[in-house]
Amino acid sequence: MTVYRLDQLDQHKALVQCAQDMQRPQAHLKHLIAAPDRLQNYSVRGGGLFLDFSRQRLDDRTRDLLFSLEELLGLRERFGMMAGGAKLNVTEKRAVLHTAARSFDHAPVLVDGKDVLPEIRRVRDQIKRFSDQVHSGRIAGAGGKPFRHVVVIGIGGSYLGPEFVSTALAPLADRNITLHYLANVDIDNFGAVAKAIDPPTTLWVVISKSFTTAETSANTAQAEQFMRGHGLDPAKHMVSVTAKGSPGDDPARPVLQTFHMFDFIGGRYSVTSAVGGVPLSLYLGYERFEAFLKGAAEMDRHALDAPVERNLPLIAALISVWNTTCLGYQQQAVIPYSSPLAKLAPHVQQLNMESNGKAVDIEGQLLPKPAGVVIFGEPGTNAQHSFFQLAHQGRPFPIDFIGVLRPHFTQYDARSKGVTNHQELWANMLAQARALAIGAGHDDQARFFSGNRPSSTLLLDDLSAENIGRLLSFYEARTVYEGFIWGINSFDQFGVELGKKVADTLRGEMVQKNDRSEYGFEAADPISKFYLEKLFEKK
Ligand code: F6P
Repeated sequence: MTVYRLDQLDQHKALVQCAQDMQRPQAHLKHLIAAPDRLQNYSVRGGGLFLDFSRQRLDDRTRDLLFSLEELLGLRERFGMMAGGAKLNVTEKRAVLHTAARSFDHAPVLVDGKDVLPEIRRVRDQIKRFSDQVHSGRIAGAGGKPFRHVVVIGIGGSYLGPEFVSTALAPLADRNITLHYLANVDIDNFGAVAKAIDPPTTLWVVISKSFTTAETSANTAQAEQFMRGHGLDPAKHMVSVTAKGSPGDDPARPVLQTFHMFDFIGGRYSVTSAVGGVPLSLYLGYERFEAFLKGAAEMDRHALDAPVERNLPLIAALISVWNTTCLGYQQQAVIPYSSPLAKLAPHVQQLNMESNGKAVDIEGQLLPKPAGVVIFGEPGTNAQHSFFQLAHQGRPFPIDFIGVLRPHFTQYDARSKGVTNHQELWANMLAQARALAIGAGHDDQARFFSGNRPSSTLLLDDLSAENIGRLLSFYEARTVYEGFIWGINSFDQFGVELGKKVADTLRGEMVQKNDRSEYGFEAADPISKFYLEKLFEKK
């Protein structure tokens, strides 16, 4: 029998035993981190980033047991199969090739015997040409005015990744274009965007792999009506990013250009495809988008090639599974000490939770415990003044601290309490990781800190496009490796379907009511009926 799940290995039992041993007082983090060579033995540099896991609840035996899983579960081998075009998305019979989206190699990547790279390069060239033409004014808005606003319509994977990257790199945006996102179907989201733009100089980028997502369809309809209301032709103010043959890839719905996505790149893994490519190239210039791709490609190579003891995303995945499955932490936080990384946590939240929130393994067998973990986060130090009370004295949760050595803005250097803002930020980041690990004694229980609360620290040299690419790829590879360890399919998302189906029924009820005011929501269940009646109540 091929073993592909951690819980099927003898090493799993050994790890459960290790988890029990870690409850002993002498295994408290304050003792573990006191070892003089702790940092040296529990940190690693690679793929352009540095990962310190010295403040995780690991001793040498546990760490080595975790590392042994790489070979036993064939983790890098599976990563290699994924990057080579194997159909690891077994339920949808699809390859998983987000790594190909940022490949600049010429060795073919075959899916069903066909090299996918030429098509990827064609779309990249199309993005370059299009964004250059928008920047030079050759492609312009009504009356030949250059485009000054770009509104991205899309949700989930067609939104969160681009928003993370554009926020991280916003200080580099020098193309005189303001970027807006229209994700939620909430009309107040539309209203806020409509208020902020100048219609004749606005380009709308509709991003939807399926082009059937209710929120995106509603917002697109709203945008088209808005343009017509301003005397503008939507076909001249809109581009689409969608799968070949989708309802959005239809000559009957003319747009300025259509950029194709591929069925082998899932929404939450699609930032380095046209999904990120179109808005990011318009906002930052194609060269920066390409630099971002190159950073991601470097981390991809590292994730595949580096042996486990030097492999950042693989180590992070092993630790994540250890914390969740063996130590029983149900949540993890992503806390960047960098405001430009404010949208990293929402992106990782979707990437990881939609990928790994699963109840069955890749063969459809029920897992002994559901996979996945709750992920949330906010930038520090803001997070300290929000939920860190609970982090220190309430339910513990492991944290990824993310530090940036050089911020975007280095010219503002006033000192307060003898330090610059950036130094103050770092003092706090270092303090939190240490305080959570060591705790503090006190006679008064209300002032007592148990400590022994784990964290890792990930370091970026700066916020260059390359480093944001590395960071993106780090979290993607970590997510994929976690899925391999749990033995699940991290690439489907059937869990989002049920809610959509129920919404279809309720929408049907609303349509009937819109058509016939006497309709009494006969097909709705009594609880939903109560709310529908409230919504349609005449004021
Ligand atoms: O939330 C479910 C989901 O299908 C995500 O996986 C996806 O990223 C998002 O909706 C948007 O889908 P689409 O790009 O097809 O509009």
